[in-house]
Amino acid sequence: RSSRDQMIIDAGQKHFGAVLCKSCGMIYTAASPEDEAQHIQHHERFLEGLRYVGWKKERVVAEFWDGKIVLILPDDPKYAVKKAEDVREIVDNELGFKQVSLSCPAKTKMYLFVSNEKMIVGCLVAESIKQAFRVLSEAGAAASPDPQAPQQPQRAWRCSSRAEPALCGVSRIWVFGPRRGKGIARRMVDVVRNTFMYGCYLSTEEIAFSDPTPDGKLFATKYCQT
Ligand code: ACO
Ligand code: ZN
Repeated sequence: RSSRDQMIIDAGQKHFGAVLCKSCGMIYTAASPEDEAQHIQHHERFLEGLRYVGWKKERVVAEFWDGKIVLILPDDPKYAVKKAEDVREIVDNELGFKQVSLSCPAKTKMYLFVSNEKMIVGCLVAESIKQAFRVLSEAGAAASPDPQAPQQPQRAWRCSSRAEPALCGVSRIWVFGPRRGKGIARRMVDVVRNTFMYGCYLSTEEIAFSDPTPDGKLFATKYCQT
């Protein structure tokens, strides 16, 4: 039974004393030794997966007081690509993406934010795209031309029916729980805009966030406004 399933079961049964671990994202019952043991196991595996052992020719695209951003490209040495894939798996698991393959791995750029403590605390997957459908704001949804339209589930944001040109699609953006709210996601997107296409700085119109989670949508809205 995966930790993800465990989380869903626990959340569903609304266990008394359920605890959400802000680091590994697991929900467990603090009162249950079995649950606690399972959490510790998952927790350690999670942190181990985010440990960053650098390599000689790493491509540092930005440096900050609290870490650096490393870019991994599809043609990089196997160990670098392997690390990128492992991190993407951890992130997909937390985002609830199951076996979502990248539309074109050869066009994928992976940005990792590595903390001074050599831990991967941020991850962004960017892909070359040609067009995107704009996510409409909540206000736009209220002014829907069809008021009889059934209420849509939370993940299905209303999208414009007209494709608009875009160059860079952000298919995943994730920041380690305890490090959220420190501008890590913002700095990663800034760096993507600067480095995704050689020699030009992409506007916010030219980047698109695909299938955003509620967190992702709030971040993207905030980011694109400022
Ligand atoms: N709610 C409201 N505002 C937010 C949120 C949020 N959940 N997240 C970020 N913002 C705002 C911040 O207030 C900040 O505004 P400010 O610059 O005026 O202070 C701005 O957006 C930038 O925030 P950062 O600190 O750069 O964002 P952070 O590093 O915390 O990362 C992220 C945001 C990536 C969404 C993080 O919350 C996360 O990893 N969430 C879980 C995973 C997830 O849902 N990712 C999005 C998936 S969708 C996709 O990948 C296309
Ligand atoms: Zn944990």
